[in-house]
Amino acid sequence: SHLRSTDIRTDNSPLQIFVKAKKKINDIFVEIEDYVQDTVGFMKSLQAERNIVTAEEAERIESYVDKVHGIRDVLKRDHMKVAFFGRTSNGKSTVINAMLRDKILPSGIGHTTNCFLQVEGSDNGESYLITEGSTEKQPVQSVGQLGHALCKEKLCESHLVRIFWPKEKCLLLRDDVVFVDSPGVDVTPNLDEWIDKHCLDADVFVLVANAESTLMVTEKNFFHKVSTKLSKPNIFILNNRWDASASEPEFFEQVRAQHQERAVDFLSRELKVYTPKDAEERVFFVSAKETLQARMQEQRGQPSHNGALAEGFQTRYFEFQDFERKFEECISKSAVKTKFEQHSQRGKHIATEIRQTLDEILDRTQKMKSEQLYVKKEIHDKLNYTEQQLMLLTQEMKDKIHHMVEDVEQRVSKALSE
Ligand code: GTP
Ligand code: MG
Repeated sequence: SHLRSTDIRTDNSPLQIFVKAKKKINDIFVEIEDYVQDTVGFMKSLQAERNIVTAEEAERIESYVDKVHGIRDVLKRDHMKVAFFGRTSNGKSTVINAMLRDKILPSGIGHTTNCFLQVEGSDNGESYLITEGSTEKQPVQSVGQLGHALCKEKLCESHLVRIFWPKEKCLLLRDDVVFVDSPGVDVTPNLDEWIDKHCLDADVFVLVANAESTLMVTEKNFFHKVSTKLSKPNIFILNNRWDASASEPEFFEQVRAQHQERAVDFLSRELKVYTPKDAEERVFFVSAKETLQARMQEQRGQPSHNGALAEGFQTRYFEFQDFERKFEECISKSAVKTKFEQHSQRGKHIATEIRQTLDEILDRTQKMKSEQLYVKKEIHDKLNYTEQQLMLLTQEMKDKIHHMVEDVEQRVSKALSE
């Protein structure tokens, strides 16, 4: 039954918007590449034969082969990136582990995160890490070992260590979500460097706040800076450690309402990234620690809690899942828009350029033909044949390109409106 529920989740996951769009746009670029190759071949044959095509024209079209290739390479690496920020010990690493459903990142006392850690999916079941400026894969077998490897490296806090974890262990990694964990925002004077280095290409930010206290100035400042560099960043606020509220039920409602109001106010009135109504949907009260524990129990085939958990566990667990759902919707739409819109523009541009060149050549052939009508019939027939071929090819290219462009546009606008 565990497997079945995982399968259902796979099909319904909003992340599929991104995954499918990526596959589709890649297929389109495979086709574009084919047609560019065909066009290059055809132009070369014309060039050799009758000087209908200039060397410059042929070279220009040929240069698109590399361009299309380049776009496909970038496309392959495109992913959805989420970055977590907040004060030290608020539970950033624990939140990521809960989402990954396993203790992957070191957390807790003695495991303060002291540089940027990026978790991404690896193929072939490999787990390893790569430190900044190196290409060496350091194998990682366990969390303990990972913690050790991170300690022994003398790393600067704004440095990035990439952790590769087997895709098949987590649906989010399989679907191209990349997680970025950070040191506490209260420990650095280098917020600008952090933002320039790690935040500009993030699709979603998660502020991990501590529900036992109020939002801190350092946390707010950080997001003020982010929103001066990025227009309308997507931000979620997790009031973590909400399990602590279970011990003080008499203040529960009051505390929650106050946190909610302040968080909404921060997102809408201060940062102006959402309307107050939309901001309501971005604030959650969770316990990452409980969620992680429950999920690790489930992985082992045991019930998600053994009865010893604090009051209200189930509600907090559901709220964490609710957060994940909204997060998945948000990140996949944002990534489709920021990443694929550019690719489809460039694809369209290449298609249009090729079409124009073919039009010009066709035009030229027709002129040459009328000028030479009186010369040998043999040449006449040959030109006639070339013209026909060109007409056919141009028409075919136009149709194909037209369809491809329409298809990309439809997909993108469909994904954006979903
Ligand atoms: P730094 O990396 O040091 O900045 O901290 P962090 O934000 O990554 O926090 P981390 O995940 O290491 O958690 C700090 C401690 O808080 C750990 O001992 C966690 O087990 C604990 N913790 C995290 N989330 C929760 C929670 O929801 N409830 C409770 N009670 N404890 C939590
Ligand atoms: Mg940490």
